[in-house]
Amino acid sequence: MNSPGTTWGVGEYPLMGRFLEPVAVAAVDAAAVVRGDRVVDIATGTGNVALLAAERGGRVVGVDFEAALLRVAEERADATGVEIGWLCGDLEALPLPGQSADVVVSVFGVMYATDHGIAARELARVAAPGARVVLASWVPGSVLPAMGQILSGYLPPPPASSGPPSRWGDPVALTGLLEPHGLRLTATSTSRITLPFTSSEDAADFLIRTAGHVVSEQDRLTSEGRWDALRQDLCGFVEQRAESRSDHLNLSLDYLLASAIRTSD
Ligand SMILES: C[S@@+](CC[C@H](N)C(=O)[O-])C[C@H]1O[C@@H](n2cnc3c(N)ncnc32)[C@H](O)[C@@H]1O
Repeated sequence: MNSPGTTWGVGEYPLMGRFLEPVAVAAVDAAAVVRGDRVVDIATGTGNVALLAAERGGRVVGVDFEAALLRVAEERADATGVEIGWLCGDLEALPLPGQSADVVVSVFGVMYATDHGIAARELARVAAPGARVVLASWVPGSVLPAMGQILSGYLPPPPASSGPPSRWGDPVALTGLLEPHGLRLTATSTSRITLPFTSSEDAADFLIRTAGHVVSEQDRLTSEGRWDALRQDLCGFVEQRAESRSDHLNLSLDYLLASAIRTSD
């Protein structure tokens, strides 16, 4: 990857994206994508959902504001021979016409909106009446949101936001976000993906190098003499959260998979 435009393009997010592929499969299954569906993958990253939906015959657009990740997505699509439209844009002002999608999916994407209400309004705007909307979001208190708490002592404060990202991983809060915009929640389920590591240091290093907002602070924290402490804190966190096996440890990440329908106004 080169020339990142946001911290999402710093570090090695595509490695994490590979581990998240099973969530894309679950989301595309939940959305029941069939040939001819107009599909939008919001915050597509390296294109996991977009690629699967296109392989199932969807007419797919992937949107993300990080051009470096979109380039990875595009290379993957070229390698598999599927046609996908890639758009560089903000999920809070989607570069798409109203009612232009039969399926709207976002896997760990809209949850990172700065303004949750605007993001929900945009989901609803691009969804045609009757469209299926499927969202995957980390559950409150699960590993990645809890890691954010550990890191907050080291990192600059996030941009002003209408709430923690994991608000999207709570069915009650999610209902409150979606319903005012004509999106009726029809199903929710909690699942987990499990990442295997050789040690807590291995896990901490993976979590760091796939998190651009952490990597981009490394020079500053190193010059302040705080980088090693951050890494130590993360190792301790992993030790608390991981399940030890005889020769490795497993770190499980819990997420909410939510399906909604765009009601007609
Ligand atoms: C955790 S990654 C998920 C990527 C992909 N959906 C996946 O499952 O691997 C979050 C993605 O959201 C994108 N993103 C965050 N805020 C965004 C915004 N305001 N507009 C567009 N994309 C955004 C990032 O660039 C990144 O690709």
